[in-house]
Amino acid sequence: MSQKRETWSTKVGLILAAAGNAVGLGNLLRFPSKAALYGGGAFMVPYFISLFLLGIPVMILEWVIGRYAGKRGHGSMTGIIGLFFNQASWARALGSLGVAIPVLIVMYYLWIESWTLGFSILSLLGKMPEPVKTPDLKTAMEPYLEFFRNYTAPSLMAVLFLWITLIVNWIILQKGVSKGIEITAKIGMPSLILMGLFLGIMSLSYNNWAGLQGLKFIYSLNFSRIKDPMVWVEAAGQIFFTLSLGMGAIATYASYVRPKEDVVKAGLWTAGINEFVEVVIGASIAIPAAFAMFGASAIPELAKEGTFRIGFMTMPAILLSLPLGEILSFIWFLLLFIAALTSSVALIQPLIAFFEDEMRWSHTKSVTVSMMIVLFGSHLCVFVPNFLDELDFWVGAVFLIFFALVEIFVFIWVFGINNFYRELTLDTTIKLPKIFVYVTGIISPLFIFLIGYFWFKYKLVEVLGETDPYKWLARIFILFFVFLLGVLAVISKKRVLEGPRI
Ligand code: ALA
Repeated sequence: MSQKRETWSTKVGLILAAAGNAVGLGNLLRFPSKAALYGGGAFMVPYFISLFLLGIPVMILEWVIGRYAGKRGHGSMTGIIGLFFNQASWARALGSLGVAIPVLIVMYYLWIESWTLGFSILSLLGKMPEPVKTPDLKTAMEPYLEFFRNYTAPSLMAVLFLWITLIVNWIILQKGVSKGIEITAKIGMPSLILMGLFLGIMSLSYNNWAGLQGLKFIYSLNFSRIKDPMVWVEAAGQIFFTLSLGMGAIATYASYVRPKEDVVKAGLWTAGINEFVEVVIGASIAIPAAFAMFGASAIPELAKEGTFRIGFMTMPAILLSLPLGEILSFIWFLLLFIAALTSSVALIQPLIAFFEDEMRWSHTKSVTVSMMIVLFGSHLCVFVPNFLDELDFWVGAVFLIFFALVEIFVFIWVFGINNFYRELTLDTTIKLPKIFVYVTGIISPLFIFLIGYFWFKYKLVEVLGETDPYKWLARIFILFFVFLLGVLAVISKKRVLEGPRI
């Protein structure tokens, strides 16, 4: 039984939901880790260039095409890419990659999200390790490093928190787009911004505003690593991940707008709020807090590889040593949890849209099957060694960039420059000049090709020489999942050709 497609119920709700889609662990954990690892201000130069040449153009592209496809009854990349090729089987199968990507990401994302929930509750209950009084960040982090290792080993408690996280996501998604996702974002996003501002101001002002040194480290823009291709690869990868681009997730949300919604404005708001939370709030918390407490000697420790160090070890080591530390640590992890939750529902929704729009399943059946798949995959990330890292490497970095190329090629070149421009300027108060289409259609893909070239040059040999069987298991799983969705895309074609679901 198929029902009518839903729409967002208010403009504010739509913007907050879209911002929630983008704002996530990428802003508050991945961003400070990458910035520290790649030299602060030296990272920010390619970062901002990637934002303007890739991030904003692809964001608007996904919004415009999402609205276009939603009017025609499609919210998942299977049907969206299919639209431009008369729903040919091969095009639907290719589009399904854009459904597989967010689902594969959410499998490990939920596992990390559940740590944030677990750590927030444990902070509140006073069950985190006692802080060590020391001027050395490495020593201060030791108890938290060990705690983190034991917790994610996995402990029974960690698995319990994963189930709670899965149930929370399930309930929100079952309630649907406007009653579930939109209401969560309306409560979650303002709270997230308030908590983030509070922690940011606290980190900067601590110890007579010593935290400002940390902000200076990030914002002393410099060109010292401008010729290092890996910095470019990482900066562009960060832009894709943080803005949720090349995942199909933005286009899926855009497919639920009302037919005359101003999507250019919505796209700019999404990117704007995301960047505010990343380069203002995200930059003001962890790194400044570490500077305020340990001085510039913290840099080598902060700059070590690993997305989880800053969030799960440095931050509790700092916060728990302050007065009311348990409350502060609770706020930090709750902030991460809310950011992650509003993104994880957005990463699952493309699969639900696929089942509803393409398979014509009922909402409940679509949500149930989607959650069973996600549940299975997230348990693989918990119990199979290296599964998380492998999924993050392939799907969270390589596939995104490849799929963004597919999107640009189909939505601009196959659709046609003029057709795309007509859609871009339809029902919007911000009439972008035509040059915008050329930047998106020519400059952005050239940029992606360059990034891709360096990626393969530096990483491919290393990756193919891999001997760890678990990593290969993860790779086979990824291929199998992409293949499975491709088959479903072909099977569902007949139903779609019977008429749109609008
Ligand atoms: N864009 C989401 C994040 O930053 C996936 O975490």
